[in-house]
Amino acid sequence: MTKVLAKWLRKFHRWIAVPTALAIPIAFIIKLIGDEQLAAAWAKLEKIPSILMLIMALTGAYLILLPYIVKWQRKNKAPVQPKEKAQQRQQQQEAS
Ligand code: HEM
Repeated sequence: MTKVLAKWLRKFHRWIAVPTALAIPIAFIIKLIGDEQLAAAWAKLEKIPSILMLIMALTGAYLILLPYIVKWQRKNKAPVQPKEKAQQRQQQQEAS
């Protein structure tokens, strides 16, 4: 579960990075230009960069915590018994 979630959240973080990287400088430039008409048109979309940053911060926070989550899960997992290990190895050999 963690593996799948980590994979998809990393992908999500990566792809949301693109519009975020575009939206923030665009918002800054629009403010810098100071054109009233442009500012009025932008007013409706003003929340977009903050929402994107929020998504980036949340998914990024998960990526930061990920190594600790994995370590914690490994620690809590019951150790594999030697007999089970041998069975698993045999199953793997049969599968390949
Ligand atoms: C508070 C905000 C953010 C946090 C906490 C955060 C955190 C992280 C973390 C922990 C990683 C994984 C690094 C690794 O394992 O090597 C990562 C990857 C990355 N971050 Fe962020 N990030 C944030 C915001 C952003 C923003 C604003 C952008 C770009 C607009 C961005 C772009 C990326 C990209 C492209 C990756 C590489 C993803 C991949 O392909 O694995 N991040 N970030």
